[in-house]
Amino acid sequence: LTKTGIKNATAPDLYGWMFEDINHSGDGGLYGELLTNRAFDGSDVTIGPVITGYKPTGNTFLRLDNLHPLTHSHQTVLALDIPTTANETSTQVGFENMGWWGIPVTPQTYNVSFFIYPDQVRNQYNPSTSITVSLRSNITGEIWASTVVPAQSWNVVNYTYVSAQIVNTVTAPDSNNTLAITFDSVVASGQTYFFDQISLFGETFKGYRNGLRKDLAQNIYDLKPKFLRWPGGNNIEGYSIQRRWKWWETIGPLEDRWPRPGNWEYYNTNGLGLMEFLEWTEAMEMENVLAIYSGYSLGDAGEANADEYPSSEAALYPLLKESLDELEFCMGSTSTFWGGKRAEYGHPEPFNIKYVEIGNEDWFGKNYPFRFKYLYEGLKAAYPDIMYISTAYNENTNYTIDIPAGAMWDTHHYEPPAFFINRFDFYDNWQETTNNTNVTVFIGEYSVFQVDTPSEIDDFSDPPDIHIFYPRLLSAIAEGVYLLGAERNPNVVKLSSYAPSLQNWNWYNWTPNLIAFDANPLHTVLSVSYYLQKLFNAYRGTESVQVTNSAGDFGPLYWASSMDENNVYLKVINVNATTVPLTVSVESSWTTVNGTIITNPDFNSFNYKNNATAITPQPLSLTSTRAGLNGTWTWNVP
Ligand code: AHR
Repeated sequence: LTKTGIKNATAPDLYGWMFEDINHSGDGGLYGELLTNRAFDGSDVTIGPVITGYKPTGNTFLRLDNLHPLTHSHQTVLALDIPTTANETSTQVGFENMGWWGIPVTPQTYNVSFFIYPDQVRNQYNPSTSITVSLRSNITGEIWASTVVPAQSWNVVNYTYVSAQIVNTVTAPDSNNTLAITFDSVVASGQTYFFDQISLFGETFKGYRNGLRKDLAQNIYDLKPKFLRWPGGNNIEGYSIQRRWKWWETIGPLEDRWPRPGNWEYYNTNGLGLMEFLEWTEAMEMENVLAIYSGYSLGDAGEANADEYPSSEAALYPLLKESLDELEFCMGSTSTFWGGKRAEYGHPEPFNIKYVEIGNEDWFGKNYPFRFKYLYEGLKAAYPDIMYISTAYNENTNYTIDIPAGAMWDTHHYEPPAFFINRFDFYDNWQETTNNTNVTVFIGEYSVFQVDTPSEIDDFSDPPDIHIFYPRLLSAIAEGVYLLGAERNPNVVKLSSYAPSLQNWNWYNWTPNLIAFDANPLHTVLSVSYYLQKLFNAYRGTESVQVTNSAGDFGPLYWASSMDENNVYLKVINVNATTVPLTVSVESSWTTVNGTIITNPDFNSFNYKNNATAITPQPLSLTSTRAGLNGTWTWNVP
């Protein structure tokens, strides 16, 4: 490693995080809402509102009602009918929500809220009665903690918003718990109440209102990702143009937001909406890679029945305008229309959008070159400092496309291990050989998603019959070699993000993912690929360092080196099953050599539930023969 050799600035934003709602990663996952079906939005994308996730408590009946809508976007509500016979026994009656496959109950303060309206026909006197909110075991009914909302006279012409806190001091033995909303059976017998937006939040990451599930967010934050790519992935596209992710339907009061049938077979509440994504990046000090809709929607049978905007300015102008408005919401001053809305919704300070991606995987489209050029030029004229990203270049496309100098190409790879190892040098001289002067690369989605096959043929069949379930050590090795190729070419590769990132064990449609989880934080599994990301991001300098190799070419060892003011960093991956002796001579003044390693004798080993720490980064003991200028150290690389 030579300090006086050629050095290049490393790419500061190289390691980031990709998020879209897939695998119930948002609703039921990272989004902090603990209740399922809080607003009766719909279940899968073909079935309308259902009562899933609720059960009666005591002698009551539950049904859905469409005659007492809460808002225009929430027409279906829950009706709780308490029979007149309920007064025969004095008890608590009402309903319970079972959470997203459970509710973790730990010592913390929970925030409960809902809208309630007493049926003015049945309840003739608009009775005043207290309401008890409690966290209970779904098995035994034992109450872990509760709060009484005092009696109040309800609004007679509209819903009343009720909020309360439950201060809980116990830890439930498992997450099979419910939130119960109950009335005294004697007082409330013969009454009917309508409910909607029934919500429960525990503590959120950095305390944001309507924020992120704390433990999962912390897992992400621990990687210190430099950017967040959102909101998709396919999930921005919709199964049709009409059902695409419409940013303006994801902002403002939750009861006014429109739920949406997402691309991954379930309804999205849009509780994790535009503002929450921006606050997420604010909370984790990340740059935004905002994907805007570019006029292409995969059909519900994939690209076979896709919807695509035509190549005309008249058709595309509304799309350009909606993206300009979106950027105004994110970055505009409070004296603009949308900047003013942002302030009204609680965030007067503008956010910063550093990168904008125009569409997602638009190589399936036919006229992306026109749409990209039109949107790029329109956006660039208004926001010249943003870095724009094309989702397609001339690989698997139905067309040829030029990416303008200064813009980026987002490339996606779900491949077997050999693909990544073989492409270690893919970005060496990429700009020169493809004649893409000053075009840079975003590896926006990648992962080892299957084992090697003799033909290296991909099989994208879903559900995952060929997809591996968990990232294996071999996955991390192959991904790591590919990333070393990226680190060695910081003039070309500027951004990268593994995908997908989060998998809910109770409902998923894509494996592998970086993190797998359920309602119980103790069950979370951080994969080997997760740890690879962590190490690669943590140990990286500000300049790349030239390495001279006395033993031939790369393989079975692959490496990249960098340095900053205080440290020289060296990353080494051995792709063989046998140990390789390595001697490193560092032309720099140094005193100590420290190491961290991820290894296991079995290439196919992985972390999984009940064995979550099978492979984790460990301190590495290295032998230094001589410190100081040109000192050396040795290591038998496993
Ligand atoms: O990461 C899963 C999906 O893979 C993304 O939504 C899409 O962009 C890609 O095809």
